[in-house]
Amino acid sequence: PQLYDLVVVANRLPVDRQTAADGSIVWARSPGGLVTALEPVMAAAEGAWVGWVGAPDTAPEPFDVDGIRLVPVPLSAAEIELYYEGFSNDTLWPLYHDVIAEPSFHREWWDAYTTVNQRFADAAARIAAPSATVWVHDYQLQLVPRMLREARPDLTIGYFHHIPFPPYGIYAQLPWRRQVVEGLLGADVIGFQRVADAGNFSRAVRRLLGFAAKSPEIRVPDGAGSHRSVVAKAFPISIDVEGYEQLAERPEVQERARQIRAGLGDPDTVFLGVDRLDYTKGIRHRLKAFGELLDEGTLRVGDAVLVQVASPSRERVAAYMQLRDEIELTVGRLNGTHATISHSAIAYLHHGYPREEMVALYLAADVMLVTALRDGMNLVAKEYVACRLRNDGVLVLSEFAGAADELKNALLINPHDIEGLKEAMVTAARMPRREQTTRMRALRRRVHDNDVAHWSTTFLDTLRHASHQSSAR
Ligand code: G6P
Repeated sequence: PQLYDLVVVANRLPVDRQTAADGSIVWARSPGGLVTALEPVMAAAEGAWVGWVGAPDTAPEPFDVDGIRLVPVPLSAAEIELYYEGFSNDTLWPLYHDVIAEPSFHREWWDAYTTVNQRFADAAARIAAPSATVWVHDYQLQLVPRMLREARPDLTIGYFHHIPFPPYGIYAQLPWRRQVVEGLLGADVIGFQRVADAGNFSRAVRRLLGFAAKSPEIRVPDGAGSHRSVVAKAFPISIDVEGYEQLAERPEVQERARQIRAGLGDPDTVFLGVDRLDYTKGIRHRLKAFGELLDEGTLRVGDAVLVQVASPSRERVAAYMQLRDEIELTVGRLNGTHATISHSAIAYLHHGYPREEMVALYLAADVMLVTALRDGMNLVAKEYVACRLRNDGVLVLSEFAGAADELKNALLINPHDIEGLKEAMVTAARMPRREQTTRMRALRRRVHDNDVAHWSTTFLDTLRHASHQSSAR
C-alpha cells in the first residue's frame, strides 16, 4: 500500500455512508465536533485518515474526499452494536461525562472494543511510513496507542481525547480501568481539552499504576531501570475561525439570516440552541427554563422564540431514544400551551444542516444557549462567536463545557440552577448593545488567538519535540 508520514486514526471518517429512502447511497458529512475540528487540519496536510464509514460491513478501497485520503476500516453489524453503541457510547460516554446517565458494563462489549481497537491499530501500522507520526483520536480508540507502539516502535504516536476525562472516583468504576490507562500510555503525547482532564488522567495513572505522574510529565518505567516520558497536558481544541468568518460575510448567507428571522415573525429575541441530541447537552434544562419564563410571562411568544436544532445522534442507544421522547414531549407541550396560530414558542428541528445554514442561524440568533451538563469543549460556542462579525449577540455558556475555561466573557451559568439560567436568559435578552460589544469583542479575540490551526500545530510540535527527547535518551 501507499505509505504516509502523517496518519490520523479516528472512529469516524469525515464522511458518513447513508442509504437514502430510494435505496441509493449518499455520502453525508459526519456529525460531531471531532470531524469539525480535524477536517481543516487534514485538508491542509498530506496525510491519510483511517476510520469507519458509519455503515456495517462496508470498507471500500481508500478514496479521496476534498483532498483528504480516506482509509476505511470495516465494522460488522455486531461490532457496531458491541463496540460502538455498547462500549463506546453506553459505557465510556456516560462514565466520562460524570455519569449523567448510568453506564453499563458488559464483558462482551469490552471484548469487541479490544478487537476493533486492534483492527484500527493494524490498519494504521500498515500505511504508516517508517518513523511516521500517527495521531489517534478519542475515547473509542484508547487502546490503539499501545497496540501501535508494540507493532511499530519506530512511530511517533500522539493521542487526543476530545471528551472529558473524569475524576478518579468516577473513572475507578470501569472494570478495565487499568488496561485503558495502559493503552493510552503507549502514546508520546496525550492531549486533553482542559487542564482538569489532564490532572484527572495523571491521578488515575498514579493511583492505578503507581508511576510518577504529574501533568505535563508521566514517567513510564521501561523495565530496565530507566523510563520513557509521556507528555499529558491540555490542548484546547478550536474551529476554522476564518472559514466561519468568510461564510458569515457572504451576502447570501446574511440574506438567509434575515429570511430566518422574518420567518420567525421578526421577534425581538431569537434564542438558539444547537446540539447533537445528547443527554450531556442540557437541552431539557434549557427547555425548562424557557418554559418557566413563558409561564411567568417574563417572556412572551411573538417577542421571543427558541430555535432548537437537535441533530440526530446514536439513535439505537436506549438513553438517546428516551431523551428524544422526553424532549419532543416537552416541546409539544410548550408549543401546545404557548404557541398562537401565527407564532410558535419553539422551533424544534431534528435534523443536521449544512454549514452555510448553520452560519445563517448563528447570524439570526440574538442569544446562543450552550447549557451542557458536561462537555469536552463545545465547538458550537466558538462557532457562534466566530460568526458575530458585528460584535453583537450574547453567548450564555455552561461552566461545565470546556469552552468556559477560555470564553470567560460569556454569561457563565450552572445549568442545574434553573433560576440562575432563567436570569441569564433574561439578562442576555435585555443586554444593552454596548455591553454586548464589549463582551463579544473579547470573546472573538480569544477564539481568534486559538483557532484550529493553532491547536493542531501546537499539538504536533509538542509531539515532535517529545519523540526527539525520548529517542535522544
Ligand atoms: C463527539 C465525540 C466524537 C464523535 C461525535 C459524534 O464529538 O467526541 O468522537 O464522533 O461526538 O458522535 P458519533 O457517535 O456520531 O460519532
